[in-house]
Amino acid sequence: MSYLQEYQKSLASPEAFWREKARALAWYQAPETILAKDQYGIDRWFVDAEMNSCYMAVDVHIEQGYGDQIALHYDSPVTGTKQSFSYTQLRDDVARCAGALVALGVGRGDRVIIYMPMIPQAVIAMLACARIGAIHSVVFGGFSAAELAIRIDDAQPSVILTASCGIEIDKIIAYKPMLDEAIRVARHKPKHCLVYQRSIAPAELVAQRDIDWQAALDDAIPADCVAVKATDPLYILYTSGTTGKPKGVVRDNGGHAVAMHYSMRAVYNMQRGDVFWAASDVGWVVGHSYIVYAPLIAGVTSILYEGKPVRTPDAGAFWRVIEEYQVNAIFAAPTAFRAIKKSDPESALLNPYNLSSLRTVFMAGERLDPPTYHWIKNLLGLPVIDHWWQTETGWAICANLMGIESKPVKAGSATLPVPGFDVHILDQNGDQVASNEQGSVAIKLPLPPGCLTTIWGDVERFKQSYLSVFPGYYVSGDGGYKDEEGYVFIMGRTDDVINVAGHRLSTGEMEEVIAAHSAVAECAVVGIQCELKGQQPVALVILKDGQTMSHGKIELELVAKVREKIGAVACLKTVKIVQQLPKTRSGKILRKLIRQIADGENYLLPSTIDDPTSIGIITQAFQR
Ligand code: COA
Ligand code: AMP
Repeated sequence: MSYLQEYQKSLASPEAFWREKARALAWYQAPETILAKDQYGIDRWFVDAEMNSCYMAVDVHIEQGYGDQIALHYDSPVTGTKQSFSYTQLRDDVARCAGALVALGVGRGDRVIIYMPMIPQAVIAMLACARIGAIHSVVFGGFSAAELAIRIDDAQPSVILTASCGIEIDKIIAYKPMLDEAIRVARHKPKHCLVYQRSIAPAELVAQRDIDWQAALDDAIPADCVAVKATDPLYILYTSGTTGKPKGVVRDNGGHAVAMHYSMRAVYNMQRGDVFWAASDVGWVVGHSYIVYAPLIAGVTSILYEGKPVRTPDAGAFWRVIEEYQVNAIFAAPTAFRAIKKSDPESALLNPYNLSSLRTVFMAGERLDPPTYHWIKNLLGLPVIDHWWQTETGWAICANLMGIESKPVKAGSATLPVPGFDVHILDQNGDQVASNEQGSVAIKLPLPPGCLTTIWGDVERFKQSYLSVFPGYYVSGDGGYKDEEGYVFIMGRTDDVINVAGHRLSTGEMEEVIAAHSAVAECAVVGIQCELKGQQPVALVILKDGQTMSHGKIELELVAKVREKIGAVACLKTVKIVQQLPKTRSGKILRKLIRQIADGENYLLPSTIDDPTSIGIITQAFQR
């Protein structure tokens, strides 16, 4: 079937389309009602079906005779460890972990926070939650104790699963003290923490509350999969919005499983026995979807890589992993390849490796900039596919569908809408714009299966943030355009979200931290261009009158505060103290203008600007 036929079918009769796709999965009770509105008027998929995501990802393969197939390769250059799990081994470990959770009183609908590095226990923990119908919420290790506390208070977990430490390029990150601090700060107190002790840096356990992972699993009675409703939440994943409070994106079980299964074939052209490597982290949506659920549901071998593209030990690491595990497709953020290019510009570290297994390179997390596209394309001589998606959607909104029909690539474009996503470019009145004209990228409802169903505990915020701007549409928060052939070009966020090394961060949240400093009168944080990480945050700060602290000390304190409150991953390294910020006459800070000045772009002087002399002040600040 051609792309156009498949796409048109998905929009013309979504229910028939997704009914057919759902047939490929092993439901306990297959769906009869494919699409219906819930009590809040939100579209829900497969409302009468029953299933279990862990069963679909693990157990079913054993029942079908594939128990010995490798489900997961764990490769950890930072510890020198490699371990492979067959589907049977994975099932046994997951069932024990699930049993340990049951013994701690965790059941269907209970929340479990997973704060772990890239180790197999993180994947086992996620699947164990799914197995017993508990809702997992994985928190990325690069977040601070304060951020973790926010998530603990929002999700109210009965149990938290963690590891004693994570290992970054050249340092050990002690997770346990961060968890202890988060629990101290949080209003909600989990009953228990299950702690996986890593020999490199074991943690002290808090009596009564903390339990040693290994001991708990050794004692556990393996738990079987329980039936849940397709509409029950599988997980909550927090993502940056425009305020300090992250949004808990809720993903259901049934729609998610169907989308994961379909996308593995349609988008990535992967089938049973293939090897897929998403070089991301389980703390991000890419890790949820394409390290854990999608490959496993599709019977594809997945790779869990605890390392970086460079310096673990060198820029040949990606090529080594591809050869060693005979990877068929890799999925990474462009920033990872920019890091490799910077570290090994002549690609000398590619030479020792045989990459003949590799068929396709997929990129997402940020726009694949044309220079990086051309570099990797020329280096490998393989299809390099940019595809656009978000935590909210859980899978690609636009892509070049390698499993349906490979289209010519246009550098800078995420190609065409994926079946199920009716993508439109709208002006501020909600009207369609002409080809090649920029606007807000919106998706006409219903969203296909797999997309968020609400914000945890706050359906009004869900409606307000995504559904009310353009009635009948989901608003993505990204700006972009379609060319005359319908190719979609995503050009960046239209809100206060920035993208640093493929990590989504809120400048609004950083501003809240900075504004809380006693010396600060006002501030603006903008994301400016960075050759390696795509964007990097810079804070512009106006000080209160009469304060006596040196500028240098204030700058250091602000950098440290953002790291403490948000985490190392925020990467705010530059603070500029200024006398004035450009504002409109109504007092709104002109952040876009600041960014344009910083990036040396041409800009139009907004007619609403209050005091044009502020432009000179900002220009000078970025020349310092
Ligand atoms: N746990 C604890 N700390 C973490 C962490 C984790 N899981 N991940 C990152 N950090 C820390 C880093 O140690 C670093 O701390 P530092 O300021 O003390 O050095 C900080 O957060 C910033 O990390 P990062 O943005 O990863 O920068 P880096 O210089 O260490 O590495 C790259 C740069 C480009 C190699 C790296 O960002 C990368 O591999 N990016 C790919 C991103 C990706 O996969 N995104 C997922 C979307 S697909
Ligand atoms: P996250 O929710 O962390 O996955 O980040 C989603 C955001 O990253 C999107 O809203 C975009 O701004 C950006 N993004 C992700 N993939 C792409 C891409 N292929 N092209 C352009 N922007 C992207």
